[in-house]
Amino acid sequence: MSKERILSGIQPTGGSFHLGNYLGALKQWVDLQESHDAFYCVVDLHAITVQVDPKILRERSLTSTAQLLALGLDPAKCSLFMQSHVPAHNQLGWVMECLTGFGEAGRMTQFKDKSQKSGADRTVVGLFTYPILQAADILLYQAKYVPVGEDQRQHIELTRDLGQRFNSTYKDIFTIPEAYITKAAAKINDLQDPSAKMSKTNSSPAGVVDILDAPEVNAKKIKSAVTDTGREIKFDSAEKPGVSNLLTIHSALSGKSIADLESEFAGKGYGDLKGAVAEVVVEYFRPVRERTMELLKDPAELTKILKVGADKANTVAEDTLKKVYDAMGLIPRA
Ligand code: TYM
Repeated sequence: MSKERILSGIQPTGGSFHLGNYLGALKQWVDLQESHDAFYCVVDLHAITVQVDPKILRERSLTSTAQLLALGLDPAKCSLFMQSHVPAHNQLGWVMECLTGFGEAGRMTQFKDKSQKSGADRTVVGLFTYPILQAADILLYQAKYVPVGEDQRQHIELTRDLGQRFNSTYKDIFTIPEAYITKAAAKINDLQDPSAKMSKTNSSPAGVVDILDAPEVNAKKIKSAVTDTGREIKFDSAEKPGVSNLLTIHSALSGKSIADLESEFAGKGYGDLKGAVAEVVVEYFRPVRERTMELLKDPAELTKILKVGADKANTVAEDTLKKVYDAMGLIPRA
């Protein structure tokens, strides 16, 4: 039986991915490449919805690629590519824009949050249509599952709606995808504000663990994490969001269950927990950091890997786009 298809994407924002990206999504990417027909893209077109220095974007795209490989993506097991290398993403993006209601796009909470923060004059149209391009990313590949963190759930819902709308209006072409969200680490929170998600754009630097940061920097951040009143080390996300976040991080990286960690830390203090989490995080990412630096020494090899990925992606994407255009009545070029 052929393997089920999955697709996911990540923005090349910042010089490093953070712990939330890894636990919420990338860890699952690595696992799922073993059992699924996996397509993973670095969504550089999504990243230009905020203005970014071209030199920095170039660097980030390569660093993102190197990091994904260092974290365990294997080009022999998955297709890893840059979104901008596959023009069909923009082409299907336009088709999807023509199927999306204005109000429907306006209800996307990430758009509402971001546009409210920067004000209407500084909000670009690309930020508004961002989730529609994301829908095209997914639908092009006929993906059955989309491994993401909890914050992407609404975008996957929109993708499903648009896929279904196309199928019922024109022709049954698209596979309707499902979000693949692991319960345990669907939302990693900010170390300084454990009621908010860890995020490159919203969190203060002290609240975010960048996986490429120096071990001592990350150890310090974790040891300075905000914890809760009381002394008991117990998982309770409502009453003890700080401690619960640290337990989640430890458990996801060490593989120990939350219950085992609660017994291990019974009678111990918050300082002990923070010290243990710092060690787990630092040791987990030490080899990833080293491997990323190593891979970045050979950018030609990275671009070669991306070319192989883009070639595979293009074949699938072109095939879907052709069917879509045909179903809509766009005549093919002679
Ligand atoms: P991005 O680049 O913001 O994040 C990449 C992935 O990391 C997850 N994530 C988190 N998970 C748990 N806790 C957190 N604090 C946390 N922060 C981020 C995100 O859920 C995501 O899975 N719109 C997408 C990129 C995208 C995409 C796609 C994803 C474009 N096209 C097609 C899937 C399929 C985004 O901005 O992710």
